[in-house]
Amino acid sequence: MASSGGQAGSTSAPKAVPGSYGLPLVGAVRDRLDFYYFQGQDKYFESRIERYGSTVVRINVPPGPFMARDPRVVAVLDAKSFPVLFDMDKVEKKDLFTGTYMPSTSLTGGYRVCSYLDPSEPTHTKVKQMLLSLLLSRKDHVIPAFRSNFSALLDTVDSDIAKSGKADFNTLNDATAFDFIGEAYFGVRPSATDLGTGGPSKAAKWLLWQLAPLVTLGLTPIIEEPLLHTFPLPPFLVKGDYKSLYGYFSAAARQAIDIGEGLGLSRDEACHNLLFATTFNSYGGLKVFFPGLLASVGGAGEKLHERLAAEIRGAVADAGGEVTLAALEKMELAKSVVWESLRLDPPVKFQYGHAKKDLEIASHDAVFQVKKGEMLFGYQPCATKDARVFGATANDFVPDRFLGDEGSKLLKYVYWSNGRETDSPSVDNKQCPGKNFVVLVGRLLLVELFLRYDTFTAEVGTDLLGTSVNFTSVTKATSGPGS
Ligand code: HEM
Repeated sequence: MASSGGQAGSTSAPKAVPGSYGLPLVGAVRDRLDFYYFQGQDKYFESRIERYGSTVVRINVPPGPFMARDPRVVAVLDAKSFPVLFDMDKVEKKDLFTGTYMPSTSLTGGYRVCSYLDPSEPTHTKVKQMLLSLLLSRKDHVIPAFRSNFSALLDTVDSDIAKSGKADFNTLNDATAFDFIGEAYFGVRPSATDLGTGGPSKAAKWLLWQLAPLVTLGLTPIIEEPLLHTFPLPPFLVKGDYKSLYGYFSAAARQAIDIGEGLGLSRDEACHNLLFATTFNSYGGLKVFFPGLLASVGGAGEKLHERLAAEIRGAVADAGGEVTLAALEKMELAKSVVWESLRLDPPVKFQYGHAKKDLEIASHDAVFQVKKGEMLFGYQPCATKDARVFGATANDFVPDRFLGDEGSKLLKYVYWSNGRETDSPSVDNKQCPGKNFVVLVGRLLLVELFLRYDTFTAEVGTDLLGTSVNFTSVTKATSGPGS
């Protein structure tokens, strides 16, 4: 089976992967400083592609010592080589959700939750099936829960702008998305339970305990390096927060836990997995995705807003004034905009996998040899902004990109869900089970915005995990569905 991993279409003889890890320890620490402080993420990868003249390169990835045992990876940094990470015959996905380090399982009730399991592990099948079944069983609840929670958010945007000329979307989204997800999945808004309004901040703290090695708070390296990037934050400091979150799930998610139990999970393992999928995967995802989407749409300006408003209001009018799944399917531009935002700014940027066997990996230009056991790593923006696929506008937000027959041919190069947009999540792969949900709620955010507003402006900045958005003006709709 050795070397059977070659990707179709390349004829040249396999080469060794170029690149360098530098001196042990020193090289990895130097690279970490480049990554966080001297170059920044994008430049870190782009400069190494340039230095070695290759989109498949050997590099160190953060956090490095002493957080991670081994920072050395083979990076796949173009649209052609990246999909090796989706091929379960070629890569093993055990314990590498966060990369070269793994947070303590005491942050997840002692369990290795779904995101850390390889599809070959029987528990992966049970948990993923539970999540896919939960999402399916709640599909009719998503639109009403989204509309009530996010129309209330936009009420606050209106009043904040009237008061102070600004509205901080990220802060409002953090509170709203948490309640929306709880209501959509379990029928119970967390803020209406004993958890009160403290859920989002408890969740954010727990997320930080897991992601600290990968983020920068914008402080000086002398403080951040020992605090965030060298040793794990002690789990006991977040134990109380996790216990409160668990309390909500064990009570509110009973029916979902029943599904898990029916599939052979203990109620406790099902509940910890539901907590993780809801709080880390879903809530963490929307915390990053929605501001990114708004920033792209805001930046595109009034012409796009007019077209979105016309499309959305027309489809809603045709559905008798209701926002239905069928109406959403007719909103081709809104769908293309959501995909384009996920392409340009994928919320989860790093993917990893250990080579299951000796492999040959093809980039656009060459074929490379990789040994069994080596860590493969993809920085997704390099793949989804590949000019060899997306042309001269690869780095631009092009709202119409995925429209029509030609546009839809590009969907197979959209990788945000850890799989191609044309593929589907299953128990046999590691593609995000929330794939359809995410594209749906992205469209719903546009619907809510453009049923209410003709246009808006926003200031865009950076946030701990992505983009920050402040609304600076909104123009109320001058026409409604049907007018
Ligand atoms: C896996 C992205 C929302 C549940 C993943 C992966 C990515 C991803 C990239 C693969 C990670 C890897 O193995 O390398 C996102 C983004 C989201 C989002 C960007 C939102 C914008 C959701 C939602 C759910 C979810 C709503 C709800 C169930 C999961 C789970 C996995 C996963 C359980 C592990 C899948 C497996 O083990 O087979 N997600 N996700 N995610 N996601 Fe999502």
